Amino acid sequence: MNRYEGRRVLITGGGSGIGQATVLRMLAEGGRVVAADVDETGLAATRKLAAEAGTDARLHTVQVDIADEASVREAVAAALAALGGGLDVLVNAAGILRSSHTHETSLEQFDKVIAVNLTGTFLMIREAVPALLRGDAPAVINFSSTSASFAHPYMAAYAASKGGIQSMTHALAAEYSKQGIRFTAVAPGSISSGMTDASGTSTQNAGPGLPQDADFSLFAKLAPALGHGFAGPDAVAGVVAMLGSVDGAFITGTEIRIDGGTHY
Ligand SMILES: NC(=O)c1ccc[n+]([C@@H]2O[C@H](COP(=O)([O-])OP(=O)(O)OC[C@H]3O[C@@H](n4cnc5c(N)ncnc54)[C@H](O)[C@@H]3O)[C@@H](O)[C@H]2O)c1
Repeated sequence: MNRYEGRRVLITGGGSGIGQATVLRMLAEGGRVVAADVDETGLAATRKLAAEAGTDARLHTVQVDIADEASVREAVAAALAALGGGLDVLVNAAGILRSSHTHETSLEQFDKVIAVNLTGTFLMIREAVPALLRGDAPAVINFSSTSASFAHPYMAAYAASKGGIQSMTHALAAEYSKQGIRFTAVAPGSISSGMTDASGTSTQNAGPGLPQDADFSLFAKLAPALGHGFAGPDAVAGVVAMLGSVDGAFITGTEIRIDGGTHY
């Protein structure tokens, strides 16, 4: 499939896990891709994987802290320059997970999770929309989570940030529908990555970090119904690639849950 030939893509969180897999997938489908991440080591790993796949000539990387307004401005400007001034697809995959008993959670930690996940997604969208308005079949894919709709204890800030992203996606889809920008979200769960089992190249996430005395009976469901345990990041990357392509042309203002049936 070459659905991304001629398409210009910016992906945050491109240095690990699902964001990295999405970068490689869209490169493999012919896209020109800017991978953005706070973690330079992760971006180097992404460049190495793209070189191994022979697609690195169409990859550019940029360091960004999506929670920092000035950093986002600079990074989006750099991405647009690398892509020849235009943008067709924005993927907001960067995120952090911090878990704790809510009554022991500092305001600093709560604010940090909201700042990266929710405010960071807003900042990226705000800076990218002017270019997307001039883009070809423009699309934004945001990252919600199963925690937005299903109870995941010890993750109140994370769940709130992801619920906010989901709501924001619907509002944005309505706001820009007549100008042709599609906004969708994916809601992954049980995907092997830096966030879930520290298997990614992320320095920002080291697994879920649940409290030592976590009561697992509080998790309504834990295991994917499809009996192979956690899936790899490609399980989500393929869906994101569909949403940003011509195959997703009639999809906007909604989310797709990708969790192997953990929460059906
Ligand atoms: N893995 C899952 O099961 C799962 C479930 C639900 C949602 N998600 C979402 O998927 C997305 C990708 O996460 P992942 O699972 O691949 O984890 P990951 O830790 O492997 O990747 C997250 C990436 O985001 C980057 N990042 C963190 N803070 C940043 C910042 N301030 N600025 C720029 N980049 C930053 C990290 O450096 C890392 O490269 C996240 O939004 C996450 O919330 C994952």
